[in-house]
Amino acid sequence: MSEDGLRVIQISDFHLLADAGERLREVDTHATLAAVIERVRAESPAPDLVLATGDLSQDGLLGSYRRVKTLLRRLDAPTYCLPGNHDDAARFAAAMPGDGVHVARELCRNGWQIVFLDSTVPGEEDGRLADGELDALDRALAARPGLHALVCLHHHPVAVGGAWGDFVSLANPDDLFAVLDRHPQVRGLLWGHVHHPFEGARGAVRLMATPSTCFQFAPGPGGSLATGPEPPAYRRLALGPDGAIDTELRWLDRLAVSP
Ligand SMILES: [Fe+2]
Ligand SMILES: [Fe+2]
Repeated sequence: MSEDGLRVIQISDFHLLADAGERLREVDTHATLAAVIERVRAESPAPDLVLATGDLSQDGLLGSYRRVKTLLRRLDAPTYCLPGNHDDAARFAAAMPGDGVHVARELCRNGWQIVFLDSTVPGEEDGRLADGELDALDRALAARPGLHALVCLHHHPVAVGGAWGDFVSLANPDDLFAVLDRHPQVRGLLWGHVHHPFEGARGAVRLMATPSTCFQFAPGPGGSLATGPEPPAYRRLALGPDGAIDTELRWLDRLAVSP
């Protein structure tokens, strides 16, 4: 775009499997991601960037990352990825970069800085931001006080309700917010993981969670995460030159992903 901000698409929680014949919760996660990518390709105006916020693979196998890459290559915009709890750190780092797909700490463009955090803890479902991640965030923001900032991670740092109720999957949200509070240029915090929509605010910072490209969670028996009726979705964000964030979810028609 333009020198007046950035058009961004967020896609999250693909949960791809290495075996093309396998399903997850009876969903062909490859087909749903393919359908989402076709919708993103049809966006007009086209996005400047695509952000993929973790759980790109369900099984953490190289074969599933190869299937992710094959689909992401269909996007015309550069794609920036961060890992989720289902991703294998080594295979993610080895397999994802290249062919227009990036794994990076930050991206600065058109008056905005986008910072990517790794909130994963090996072997754990829930997340935590290690001291090194928090320091890197603090340094990145301190280095670019003149840019508006959007910070991205996988795990949710505030309660999102729905099937998650009051549970927060990031173990140390106060540490994250202490860093953000030192940098007034931060405009938004964006995550995946919850398979659920959420929008809120903390002071001047927009808080946004985006549903999955495969299935969404609903309250299940005994506090479990059941599969809800909502279709795949993604988020569109227009990051304005004044720091404003205009955003909306785009839900797919369920027919678009039926065999
Ligand atoms: Fe997920
Ligand atoms: Fe997750």
